[in-house]
Amino acid sequence: MHIHRYERLWIRLSIVLLVVFGIAVAISAMSLGFELPGIKKELERGASASLDPNSGWIRELGPQRYEVNMIARAWSFDPSEIRVPVGSTVTFYLHSVDYLHGFKIHNTTVSLMAIPGQVGEATYTFDEPGEYLFLCHEYCGRGHHVMSGKIIVEEV
Ligand code: CUA
Repeated sequence: MHIHRYERLWIRLSIVLLVVFGIAVAISAMSLGFELPGIKKELERGASASLDPNSGWIRELGPQRYEVNMIARAWSFDPSEIRVPVGSTVTFYLHSVDYLHGFKIHNTTVSLMAIPGQVGEATYTFDEPGEYLFLCHEYCGRGHHVMSGKIIVEEV
């Protein structure tokens, strides 16, 4: 069977690329520690009891420092309203108790996926007072459009 010179070249090139990508995946998984988000973090913290996937809470860690255990479920967030003073830095731990949801806080850099069995983490400092809407940005069924809440950043 005759294979054109260029055809053969492209076949070889695509095999070389597959090998290169395979090596890159192996290196990142084995020596750079790349992995799915959340699992390792939760184990490292040894905090699976306090990072409860079934109940949401807000905890004050210190002055202007908060953490939030955020539960996403069809079709609401728990807690759905969070109040912090302006200038606060808030770390969010995001869980899903049923299936895939999204978590996006409007006008911030916070945008996460809520993946069942994993913990999403994001930290943000609220320097401007006002109301920040957060919502589910991953279509999750007939109540998707009502799945939202707000963060109220109060003037002190
Ligand atoms: Cu939850 Cu869309």
